[in-house]
Amino acid sequence: MEILNLAELEALARDRLPQLAWDYYASGADDERCLRRNCEAWERIALHYRVLVDVSRRDLSTTVLGQRIAMPIGVAPTAFHRLAHEDGELASVRGAGDAGTVFVLSTLSNTAVEEVVAAASGPVWFQLYVYRDRAATEALVRRVEAAGCRALVLTVDAPLLGRRERDVKNRFALPTDLGIQNLHAAGYARLPSASGESGLAAYVADLLDPGLTWDVIGWLRSLTTLPIVVKGIVRADDAVRAIEHGAAGIVVSNHGGRQLDASPATIDVLPRIAEAVAGRGEIFLDGGVRRGADVIKALAFGARAVFVGRPVLWGLAAGGRAGVAAALATLHRELDLAFALCGCPDVASATRDLVDPETP
Ligand code: FNR
Ligand code: LAC
Repeated sequence: MEILNLAELEALARDRLPQLAWDYYASGADDERCLRRNCEAWERIALHYRVLVDVSRRDLSTTVLGQRIAMPIGVAPTAFHRLAHEDGELASVRGAGDAGTVFVLSTLSNTAVEEVVAAASGPVWFQLYVYRDRAATEALVRRVEAAGCRALVLTVDAPLLGRRERDVKNRFALPTDLGIQNLHAAGYARLPSASGESGLAAYVADLLDPGLTWDVIGWLRSLTTLPIVVKGIVRADDAVRAIEHGAAGIVVSNHGGRQLDASPATIDVLPRIAEAVAGRGEIFLDGGVRRGADVIKALAFGARAVFVGRPVLWGLAAGGRAGVAAALATLHRELDLAFALCGCPDVASATRDLVDPETP
């Protein structure tokens, strides 16, 4: 599947998806200001490219938590892939494998973690939501480790679901044949049929624990040896706290603008977070990454890699596995060219001076 750019893929997905699914994937909270801010913030940053560097050979590969991937771009966790395509998460993880990169599986997937890992050819990380039912959460963590996931990504920006007005209007619910497969045994596989609001918001309010504090990291560390990455941080002090509590890394993220609408754009807060963490953990970022050059900006400000959420869903809706692979291949192609034009033969050369020429 050949596409010009991700915007083209977005248009294809929009044509193909029913309104309820499109709105769920596309929406942000409230006025969708953060959703727009995430995308627009990249535009204000220029790349001060270097010249006369030999870029005849370029290596885009890197490691994340010690795992080798083909490019510093992974797949962010997003819920309910079977709303986009009948092969759901299996198509997505195969597309990520085709691109040689890491796939983060959402707790709220329509496919069980064991099946997803079995279909993977690259690393799979598991995004965890902590249920009020700690025994069910513990069982899930043990299952995820046994299945062969390589990290736990603990999402901390959703004590309650942000109010996505499009979902409220659509009374968002899942078709009866789709469930939350990882929570089947615990009895939490079904979303309530919505009553005057989003069924997902009701599910989150009923079942997920809004009382989490920093202790949760220690609790998870007592259950698993998997590295823990804390996702949903926009403050330097929170980033440092996460590392001090034993996280191996953090994801600078505001959930793609779906939670606090007044959140800052992620790329705007990355520099001070990177400075505060000072190499003590790996820093990842998501939010509005739509071009290869965006990735260089994130690396230059101190991210080890970025993740993309919606572009993968667009690919999945437009063409299943091939569409996901096309979304990621497009970013790879753009990043490769941007590396060449910036005078960067590899990820190590994407340094701070590219975005901040005053910095040596
Ligand atoms: C998400 N995101 C998300 N995050 C998470 O930790 N668990 C989840 O289940 C989901 N589900 C989800 C569904 C959909 C439809 C979207 C769009 C997003 C947030 C996601 O991991 C990521 O932070 C953002 O998607 C990144 O922004 P972009 O790339 O979509 O702009
Ligand atoms: C969302 C939740 C599921 O953003 O993370 O829809």
